[in-house]
Amino acid sequence: PPLEAITNLYDFEFLASQILTKQAWAYYSSGADDEISMRENHSAYHRIFFKPKVLINVAKVDTKTEMLGVPVDLPFYVSATALCKLGNPAEGEKDIARGCGSGEKKIPQMVSTLASCSLEEVVDAGKEDQVRWFQLYVNEDRGVVDQLISNAEKLGFKGIFVTVDAPGLGNREKDSKVKFSGSSSGPNTVKKEDRDGGQENGESSGASKFLSKFIDPSLDWDDLVEMKKKTKLPIVVKGVQRVEDIVKAAEVGANGVVLSNHGGRQLDFSRSPIEVLAEAHPVLEERNFKDFDVFVDGGIRRGTDVVKALCLGAKGVGLGRPFLYANSAYGKEGVQKAIDILNFEIEMTMRFLGVTSIKQLGPEFLDTSNIKSR
Ligand code: FNR
Repeated sequence: PPLEAITNLYDFEFLASQILTKQAWAYYSSGADDEISMRENHSAYHRIFFKPKVLINVAKVDTKTEMLGVPVDLPFYVSATALCKLGNPAEGEKDIARGCGSGEKKIPQMVSTLASCSLEEVVDAGKEDQVRWFQLYVNEDRGVVDQLISNAEKLGFKGIFVTVDAPGLGNREKDSKVKFSGSSSGPNTVKKEDRDGGQENGESSGASKFLSKFIDPSLDWDDLVEMKKKTKLPIVVKGVQRVEDIVKAAEVGANGVVLSNHGGRQLDFSRSPIEVLAEAHPVLEERNFKDFDVFVDGGIRRGTDVVKALCLGAKGVGLGRPFLYANSAYGKEGVQKAIDILNFEIEMTMRFLGVTSIKQLGPEFLDTSNIKSR
């Protein structure tokens, strides 16, 4: 269908399910075990309702905000997903870069360690003033890690997001049932022999299994402290799932966390990030950590989801699959359209709530009585 026929993010998902190769659909759409967390990530938003204010002049609403101290046009970003060439074989992450940077409102792009394109290619494809973050998987070989970080620094990336919810591979059964050839994978960290090997002998089952070789399960809090010493870039811990770990991250000097369960692809029955945020909100208000941003991802599909997270104190929210699907179906125009749709939905939600700027959003706009829990 023509791009104009797309009215919401679910349309991209349906389309992707029809046009992607079996392998790509299995890798992109799967969650761990029974996919309870994957579904719960979004369903949890259904338990939060709004308490709008009326009779406020909302003729003009402003979606601008800041993330990691940098001004941004919209309160959401593209989260890191490996292997964008599985769905968009010619352009992969480069089209995401173009989509993020070519519209009237630009959004940050988080690029995966296991991206199909090199960081250089992603940077060259976009514009100079785009905000880019690097998602780091910590390799057993810490020399590789140092190199990856300094390369991201050199290329003007504005933050390092260290993924900590993947000390092993999530059990994604849909994905492990299909054979994986390594051809779309990882110029940033994957050795050429490994890539070609996977392709030729066809032994690798599932894209995730192939990628998991590059992640070190011995990663701990001390590594984070060491990393912080080595770079001037903000370090954000991606994959935090409990309030105590948010506090700990702030205390060891991280510049933020992403409350995330990796889109339900790692530990099944991990809680939805929006619930963790609701629980954390009073603690964060009380502690008021400086230079520390809390982000959320997982199951965000509507402008209302974005606004709910912001009301609970998130600085910004990330989306993974919707952008993969948009990129797979329509390339950079698809990515741009997904941004436009969310922009439209966010502005509308703000107007209906009676707010004209992101700063005005707060918990008083929400009824969270169905989710506050311990
Ligand atoms: C991911 N995610 C991910 N996260 C990460 O830190 N590094 C990575 O390489 C990947 N790769 C990846 C591949 C695919 C196919 C998916 C769907 C997800 C997780 C991602 O950054 C984000 O946390 C989730 O995708 C958010 O959930 P939604 O928006 O997909 O529901």
